[in-house]
Amino acid sequence: MSSVTQLIRYGVAFTDTWRQATDSSDLHLTPQRKPSWLETPWGGHYHGGNLFLDRPFPVRLTGTKYACGRGGCGACTVMVSKHDPVSRKIRHFSVTACLVPICSLYGAAVTTVEGVGSIKTRLHPVQERIAKSHGTQCGFCTPGMVMSMYTLLRNHPQPSEEQLMEALGGNLCRCTGYRPILESGRTFCAESSGCQQKGRGKCCLDQGENAASSLGGESDICTELFAKDEFQPLDPTQELIFPPELLRMAENPEKRTLTFHGERVTWISPGTLKDLLELKVKHPDAPLILGNTSLGPAKKSQGHFHPVLLSPARISELSMVSTTSEGLTIGAGCSLAQVKDILAGRVSELPEEKTQTYRALLKHLKRLAGQQIRNMASLGGHIMSRHCYSDLNPVLAVGNTALNLMSKEGTRQIPLDRDFLAGLASADLKPEEILESVYIPHSQRWEFVSAFRQAQCQQNALADVTAGMRVLFQEGTDTIEDLSLAYGGVGDATISAQKSCQQLLGRHWNEPMLDEACRLLLDEVSLPGGAPGGSVEFKRTLVVSFFFKFYLEVLQELKKPGKLLSVPVSALDGRHFPEISDRFLSALEDFPATVPQGVQRYQSVDSHQALQDPVGRPIMHLSGLKHATGEAIFCDDIPTVDKELFMALVTSTRAHAKIISVDLSKALELPGVVDVITAEDIPGTNGAEDDRLLAVDKVLCVGQIVCAVVAETEAQAKRAVEETKIAYEDLEPVIFTIEDAIKHSSFLCPEKKLEQGNVEKAFEEVDQIVEGEVHVGGQEHFYMETQRVLVIPKTEDKELDIYVSTQDPAHVQKTVSSTLDIPINRITCHVKRVGGGFVHLGLKNDMLITGGRHPLFGKYKVGFMNSGRIRALDIECFINGGCTLDDSELVTEFLILKMENAYKIHNLRFRGRACMTNLPSNTAFRGFGFPQGTLVTESCITAVAAKCGPSVREKNMYKTVDKTIYKQAFNPDLKSSFHSRRMQVAEFNKKNYWRKRGLAVVPMKFSVGFAATSFHQAAALVHIYTDGSVLVTHGGNELGQGIHTKMLQVASRELKVPTSHMHICETSTATVPNTIATAASIGSDVNGRAVQNACQILLKRLEPIIKKNPEGTWEDWIEAAFEQRISLSATGYFRGYEAFMDWEKGEGDPFPYYVYGAASSEVEVDCLTGAHKVKKIRTDIVMDACCSLNPAIDIGQIEGSFTQGMGLYTTEEELKYSPEGVLYSRGPDDYKIPTITDVPEEFNVSLLPSSQTPLTIYSSKGLGESGMFLGSSVFFAIADAVATARRERDIAEDFTVRSPATPERVRMACADRFTEMVRDSRLPPWAPPF
Ligand SMILES: Cc1cc2nc3c(=O)[nH]c(=O)nc-3n(C[C@H](O)[C@H](O)[C@H](O)COP(=O)(O)OP(=O)(O)OC[C@H]3O[C@@H](n4cnc5c(N)ncnc54)[C@H](O)[C@@H]3O)c2cc1C
Ligand code: FES
Ligand code: FES
Repeated sequence: MSSVTQLIRYGVAFTDTWRQATDSSDLHLTPQRKPSWLETPWGGHYHGGNLFLDRPFPVRLTGTKYACGRGGCGACTVMVSKHDPVSRKIRHFSVTACLVPICSLYGAAVTTVEGVGSIKTRLHPVQERIAKSHGTQCGFCTPGMVMSMYTLLRNHPQPSEEQLMEALGGNLCRCTGYRPILESGRTFCAESSGCQQKGRGKCCLDQGENAASSLGGESDICTELFAKDEFQPLDPTQELIFPPELLRMAENPEKRTLTFHGERVTWISPGTLKDLLELKVKHPDAPLILGNTSLGPAKKSQGHFHPVLLSPARISELSMVSTTSEGLTIGAGCSLAQVKDILAGRVSELPEEKTQTYRALLKHLKRLAGQQIRNMASLGGHIMSRHCYSDLNPVLAVGNTALNLMSKEGTRQIPLDRDFLAGLASADLKPEEILESVYIPHSQRWEFVSAFRQAQCQQNALADVTAGMRVLFQEGTDTIEDLSLAYGGVGDATISAQKSCQQLLGRHWNEPMLDEACRLLLDEVSLPGGAPGGSVEFKRTLVVSFFFKFYLEVLQELKKPGKLLSVPVSALDGRHFPEISDRFLSALEDFPATVPQGVQRYQSVDSHQALQDPVGRPIMHLSGLKHATGEAIFCDDIPTVDKELFMALVTSTRAHAKIISVDLSKALELPGVVDVITAEDIPGTNGAEDDRLLAVDKVLCVGQIVCAVVAETEAQAKRAVEETKIAYEDLEPVIFTIEDAIKHSSFLCPEKKLEQGNVEKAFEEVDQIVEGEVHVGGQEHFYMETQRVLVIPKTEDKELDIYVSTQDPAHVQKTVSSTLDIPINRITCHVKRVGGGFVHLGLKNDMLITGGRHPLFGKYKVGFMNSGRIRALDIECFINGGCTLDDSELVTEFLILKMENAYKIHNLRFRGRACMTNLPSNTAFRGFGFPQGTLVTESCITAVAAKCGPSVREKNMYKTVDKTIYKQAFNPDLKSSFHSRRMQVAEFNKKNYWRKRGLAVVPMKFSVGFAATSFHQAAALVHIYTDGSVLVTHGGNELGQGIHTKMLQVASRELKVPTSHMHICETSTATVPNTIATAASIGSDVNGRAVQNACQILLKRLEPIIKKNPEGTWEDWIEAAFEQRISLSATGYFRGYEAFMDWEKGEGDPFPYYVYGAASSEVEVDCLTGAHKVKKIRTDIVMDACCSLNPAIDIGQIEGSFTQGMGLYTTEEELKYSPEGVLYSRGPDDYKIPTITDVPEEFNVSLLPSSQTPLTIYSSKGLGESGMFLGSSVFFAIADAVATARRERDIAEDFTVRSPATPERVRMACADRFTEMVRDSRLPPWAPPF
């Protein structure tokens, strides 16, 4: 019997951070916080150093990251290389390591980001380019991005842009907005222009790094953020070779059955088909494990457990492909990526009429999951999993596919039909059978096959509804001879609409048939009201909308000249096919996934600025290269410490309940469990009375922490959590929604109110009044690095070192101090960098326990004159605060303070309240209430504009601000040709019935900072060492926003020393105490002032020495200063901007300054599916950054926050809860942040020409949050498109699209004959939206 580690000796080559999972029963290698020692000799190759190992080896590599653990985010992407026995070539493919069982890697080479390149040895061009193109911010997603791109280049050294999009489709990034990542990838593409100037002239940086250019006019505008010439070329001959030992092994394959035993699981890998079939008799219940993309997630989320796993990976018969004149047979073991290539090959070889089914499958294979999953998942696994959302099964089912089965007894064939998909025993495999291959016949003449899917995002999202459709006509006619329609996502299994199809046989392909088909389909494909996933009306609408698309597609094909010409006219029976109006043809188009284009503009630095002065230049993120090589250390990557223990949290399963008892006895008995900590164990304070750290007596939401298990391993701690028994008694009331909270008067704090003028009187005098309601959904942080903390207690004096991912280490320090009753001075918090925001919360628990952005419900009443001038505005808002106060009061205040946005309305009343509900406490989130509140204001302005015309926005803006700074920014003609495009949009809309374009522009006045002076103070500590090197420390935290880079730019300018002489190690409460949270877009600003102060103090001290030896070097001066006993260390301090707010009087000066900006977006909406895309057209953003400290970083912040805002307003559907308050949305499967395909196709960002604001450091402005709200331009553009569709359909215009404008909401708002058919049978929703 072999162990897992012996397997490694058999031939897995590794370059990674993996270790055998603590829970060896998993037989998984998952990336873990602690790179560990592999216990026995292993004959693998370490690509980074090409070591052959004969003794235990510490694999201390940190690149591969762990986030969702379910294959959905791509952070753990690595490249696997295998010898393909069929093609006899080496196959390189990307995989998500979190789903790869170690045993499946027999004979494979694994390359992680460390094997690709390193800053210590040589950077790979992919790593260099992603960093220098500013494609990294927090850097947590970067190694995964690098590995996806690297694998692409191993297979296609000059990829097409389409291949680039496909390769990155499975990688999520929450920071950058993807544009710079794609820009870096595009530099490898064959058709890449490379220059962002896009042929509009010479780039300013062509003059060399830091070159100056003159001020005045367009020549001062730079459009290149990096210099492409600097990039080292890609040389494919320099890539790592496939280990010769593995090649030899592949050429003489081991035929023996290999068996590997874990604690609870046995993995059996037979070497021959015969052995596999015998094993299947012996272990009939054992699943065949191929890609593990079904089994893996089911084990993780549903706890499915299989004691024996059979791996057919070494059986080459399962990868065979054969063709006949009738069809194609594909081995069940082929991956979906291979299937895609095979089908593409057949499509290019065969006439179109024979490849209808292959084309339909290919369409889905481009969109199904991400590239990594397609590389791992097998055709057999996909079919056999019979997921209700399966994209391929509906197409295979309608395409008359047959399954070739095999057992010891022999072979047989069964159809992949309705009964098989429903799992009927009579139509299924017998326990001892396996699926050997899949036969897909060619289509025939007069046969048409199509595939349709609609998901929240274009790629990497499970479809809401997916369909395969096939029709066969009687030769030369439009009479239906055979029809098959199959749907996924509308029931527990793929559904075949057999009855409807039968009834349509013999019918002509015309409108009456269409109507009848829709009626029959709605009858047959019925969804119960409580169907899992909800969205019943939407899904039913898609069922018929897809059929309509199919109808048009087929009609279009029938009308093709070639088709008709080849048929004798007599065969048409004297009839003609119905005409399709050109206006309807756009229903047939799919949105393409194309690499975005765009220009990023910023002001070049003053021609007199010294070349070595980095301020104002697009300097790369300090950690950019380390992010790209995986050498940047996050909390999880810190090496194991002696006697380390893990903590796992026990959380409440009830929304509002009394705790009757907590039984820890079973948990404490489990091996490795050290203790269970409850509220009684807390020596100090257990949080506030109404916001407990650990629950006492009662719980207020599902997910509230009740106690914590401490064990020797993470797996042991998690297992013990399962054994902790808590008895509850439910309490009333249980409140989830804002509406319920209002009903129960359940609020967290008093109402906040601001009022000016005489609102009531103004309402009496206006021409018109409009009232409305606005719902804005909440938002999950979805940071890629989930919450992590490592605490190291020191042996002396109760000291604690805490390594934590936080933006407020001083708050953590204070909280730990009060909880443990230890003075603050014994506790040191260290923050190196935060990749989002050792308790190590997996994404699932992170989403369960931590709150997010507050959902909002707002009511408005606006009074205006017929001219469009608004005279009175009254807005009342409620936010869902969850179960404790947290930051909800502050969020309410900010919301009210910022709500007026850019408008000057004389009679104004804003009121806001935070509701207390039985949900996890919502909290601060980028923009702090502004993105929600201002959406209400903009909705209200949009409602007035609908009555009085689009000039309403300009008419009601602050005019004085317009004149000084803002006017130029907001003139939409300047950058986005708003008015001419409005006309083009109208023209398009006239010509297209099923596609509508919308255009919107939103202005923004964003107030930066906190409403309290003390919150603006900041400190820094700068040391100069005797070799002249400088260590800078300040109170800000690196969250990916580039604060450390900016601080070095400041220090470099002040000390006149290059940034290469400088270093920032970390943020620590021991070096800079009593810091303020890095928040409110003010971090770089205030900390920059503190760094500046410290540097100026030091320079003052050095002045006499410099004066005495003006020709000396920096090192000479420092040496002299040391000799003269001059202190080379200084603390810098900034006392903060004056800011206050008196809520009693409703007066104050709460914010130090404003950021102005505007965005216009143009979108196209598919009225039949609700899909939308900022397509073919563009998003333009102009932002007033004054004098940007670093335009690359600032543009990165704008693009990243815009994309996050676009997610908030369009794709990030509210978290879904069960009626009991249990969170359903627990990962990337159920919660969709924007993916790479959601980036606007043209994305232009301009920083306005520099102006001066003496208040801030070097006149720069904080831009961290403001772009969030500009994402609403996409929302309003969608609303505009929907309004046009509704006007055309003669539906009342008074409607509001609820935010987020998901495909479902858009589809249902574009009401038409299909929605009408569905609405007849209204059903209650599945889960209440909160
Ligand atoms: C992040 C993510 C995103 C996804 N997105 C999509 C999507 O957009 N659309 C979609 O349709 N699907 C999607 N999927 C599902 C995916 O397509 C399936 O999970 C996959 O095809 C299963 O293949 P596998 O090889 O990994 O199966 P495994 O997990 O290895 O096995 C699954 C089952 O199939 C059985 N089996 C496998 N091979 C055979 C055989 N030869 N004979 C008999 N039984 C066999 C096994 O016994 C097991 O029960 C996604 C999955 C993930 C993880
Ligand atoms: S895909 Fe593996 S951690 Fe997300
Ligand atoms: S840089 Fe991509 S998640 Fe932060």
